[in-house]
Amino acid sequence: MLVSAKEMLNKARDGKYAVGQFNINNLEWTKSVLAVAEELKSPVILGVSEGAGKYMTGFKTVVGMVNGMLEEMNITVPVALHLDHGTFEGAQKCIRAGFSSIMFDGSHYPIAENIEKTKILVNTCDVLGISIEAEVGSIGGEEDGVVGLGECADPKECKAIADLGVTMLAAGIGNIHGKYPENWPGLSFETLEAVKKEVGDMPLVLHGGTGIPEDMIKKAISLGVAKINVNTECQLSFADATRKYIEAGKDQQGKGFDPRKLLAPGAEAIKATVKEKMELFGSVGKA
Ligand code: 13P
Repeated sequence: MLVSAKEMLNKARDGKYAVGQFNINNLEWTKSVLAVAEELKSPVILGVSEGAGKYMTGFKTVVGMVNGMLEEMNITVPVALHLDHGTFEGAQKCIRAGFSSIMFDGSHYPIAENIEKTKILVNTCDVLGISIEAEVGSIGGEEDGVVGLGECADPKECKAIADLGVTMLAAGIGNIHGKYPENWPGLSFETLEAVKKEVGDMPLVLHGGTGIPEDMIKKAISLGVAKINVNTECQLSFADATRKYIEAGKDQQGKGFDPRKLLAPGAEAIKATVKEKMELFGSVGKA
C-alpha cells in the first residue's frame, strides 16, 4: 500500500540520512526502482512530473500501475507516490487519482500567492493523510539551451511556508535540475543553514540530485536535507545502455528487436544508478 512520505522523512531527518525520490517515466523505470528499494530494504519516493503523468496516459494509470506492482512484486518497504513540481490543478488531480504525496511548486508566484495556494492544498492533504512538499526559491536548470543558475531562497519566506504545516520544504540553495555547468559555484550551505534555523525540524528537500559532488550531498544531509531528488542520472544511464544494446545489433534477424530485451539493459542501468544513490544517501536498511 502506498504511504505518505511524512513518517519516512521524519525518520530520515532524525537518523541523518536522506530518502531518494526517483522520477519514473514508464513501467520499466518503476519496476527497477521498486526492485532495488526492496532488495536494499530502503524507503523510496516515486516522483512523477506532470509531463510524465500525461505520457503514461494520466495519473490514474500511474496509481493503478504502481499499486499493482506493490502487490505483484511483494513490496514490503515504504513507498510514496509523489507529484513532482505540480501546478495547483495538477496537485488536485493527483490527490483525486490516489497519489500519497504531492508537491505544489508555487515558487514562481509572488510569495503571498504561493502561501495562499499552498495553504489550500495543506488543508486538503491534512484531511486525507497525504504528504505535501512546497517550494521557495526556484531551482535552476536548462531552458532553451541556457542553463540558469539556481536561486537562493529567502529564509523568512521559507518560515512563512513551513508554518503552513507542509510536510517538507524544497528551498533553493543554488541547486539546478540536469547537469551542472562548469562555472557552478556549488551549493550555498550558508543559505541552507539560515533556512534550517528558521524552519526548525522541517525535513528539507534537495532537488537536482544529479551531478552534485558526494561531499556536498553528505554535508547537505548533515544540515537537515532528508529527501533528495534524482531524475537526469537515471535518464542518462537508461539512454546509454539502450543505445549500446542497439549498436550491438542484437535484433532477431530481420524481425526487429524483442521489445522486452530491448528495454532490459536500460532497466538494469537504472537499477545500478538507484542502488548507488541509496548507498550514498544512507537509506539502505532503513525500511
Ligand atoms: P535532476 O534531474 O537534476 O536529477 O533533478 C531531479 C529533480 O530535482 C526532480 O524534481
